[in-house]
Amino acid sequence: MRQSSLVVVANRLPVDDSVAPDGACEWRRSPGGLVSALHPLLQHTPATWVGWAGGTGPAPMLADIDGVRMHSVPLARDDVRDHYEGFANATLWPLYHDSVEQPVYHRRWWEAYQRVNQRFAEAAAEAAEPEALVWVQDYHLQLVPGLLRAIRPDLRIGFFLHVPFPPPELFMQLPRRAELLLGMLGADLVGFQRAQAAHNFAQLATKVLQLPATDRRIAVGERVVRIGAFPVSIDMTEMEALARRPDVTQRATRIRRDLGDPQHVILSVDRMDYTKGIEQRLKAYSELLATGHVKVRDTVMVQVAVPSRERVEQYQILRERVEREVGRINGEFGRVGEPAIHYLTQPFDRAELAALYRAADIMAVTPLRDGMNLVAKEYVAARVDDGGALLLSEFAGAAAEFPQAFLVNPHDLEGLKLTLMHALQATPVDLTGRMQSMRQHLRVHDIRAWARSYLTSLDQTGNLVTQLATT
Ligand code: ADP
Ligand code: F6P
Repeated sequence: MRQSSLVVVANRLPVDDSVAPDGACEWRRSPGGLVSALHPLLQHTPATWVGWAGGTGPAPMLADIDGVRMHSVPLARDDVRDHYEGFANATLWPLYHDSVEQPVYHRRWWEAYQRVNQRFAEAAAEAAEPEALVWVQDYHLQLVPGLLRAIRPDLRIGFFLHVPFPPPELFMQLPRRAELLLGMLGADLVGFQRAQAAHNFAQLATKVLQLPATDRRIAVGERVVRIGAFPVSIDMTEMEALARRPDVTQRATRIRRDLGDPQHVILSVDRMDYTKGIEQRLKAYSELLATGHVKVRDTVMVQVAVPSRERVEQYQILRERVEREVGRINGEFGRVGEPAIHYLTQPFDRAELAALYRAADIMAVTPLRDGMNLVAKEYVAARVDDGGALLLSEFAGAAAEFPQAFLVNPHDLEGLKLTLMHALQATPVDLTGRMQSMRQHLRVHDIRAWARSYLTSLDQTGNLVTQLATT
């Protein structure tokens, strides 16, 4: 097979399948996220993306997407159950998010995690040309750097964790903690969203593996592994361009009209996940309705909660609880034709999301813990009118970059209610000043800056980064 000088390895390929008019299955580039980040770089470099196309059974043969080779890794039903739904999303995900749900440990899941990581490492080794640069993404693949180095010591290997990395008190619970740390330490550069995460990792390397470590470097035998914070971002230009489109502006006006032209529209857009603080937000809103601080006719809440990881028990329980609570709130406070909460579980295209962002006076992003939270950044990018207010949890990575947001502790119900009221009552001058500052920050720290800063650090020859800088 053809080999590439740059290989991205992520649990998912940047593709979505859809059904063409003739009934055939079509694969398209999925919007947003990592693919936008890497797109400029990948276009100028022979690159391969190694990942799972979703589904079970044999890996589909996929055409190149925008010049990038798609190398799909097959997962069997047991792999999906025990690796993706099990160890990744029922063990690591809750543990890394402050254990807001109890992590589940099963030895069978660990075996699947090893097996699937090995398969990804072998696929990456096959796709990489001699001395290529391989960039491994996220918590599903923490063993890949170590496994890949064992097969291909010639490669330069990067690892980036998109989710939080927990403090030693939590991480020490993991039955296979040493193996996971060693897996990540197979990389030349380990990147995190926050400096605190790099600090936690360095502490654990010393505590569990007795390795000499600072918050910037860890010595692993003869090798030095560099670590650091590289806060991920979004494609600001793409979101701004969407938000400026006349059809999107008209759609935003239409959304407000359909909502009854209220004084205030409060919007939340989340994956249905217990880390997102959806229940806490609903409780705060319900109490404000009960005390009359907000009234259904003046204020409307729109909660978009797209179902996620639906076969994992905690996610099924959460969905039932959220839907029961939305039903209760609408039953108690809504009127005919005027629900208190508009609840939507559908996936939307980027233009519709941009229109929703433009229609919202307040964007409520209140996770209990979040590596970054890209929705908060997308909202700021979409506010080309410098309007709107961002209510943002202190426990989202984005809070470190947006001190001008209305910051809240989502566990503090009274504080959440007060801050929401503060945002509802803020003056236009106050709101514009805050939004302008956040937009200015985002303009400089966009997704390309993120990719460039990580790859500059990883690619000491500088070749790839020179290409990125010129695109
Ligand atoms: P997470 O990575 O935990 O899902 P983020 O906020 O970082 O959370 O990223 C979520 C991404 O999913 C954003 O790019 C957002 O636009 C997208 N998204 C969320 N809800 C929807 C939806 N209903 N339809 C389409 N995209 C969505
Ligand atoms: O941000 C964490 C993350 O797992 C991403 O890697 C992923 O794109 C997103 O959440 C959605 O999760 P999933 O791939 O499980 O649908």
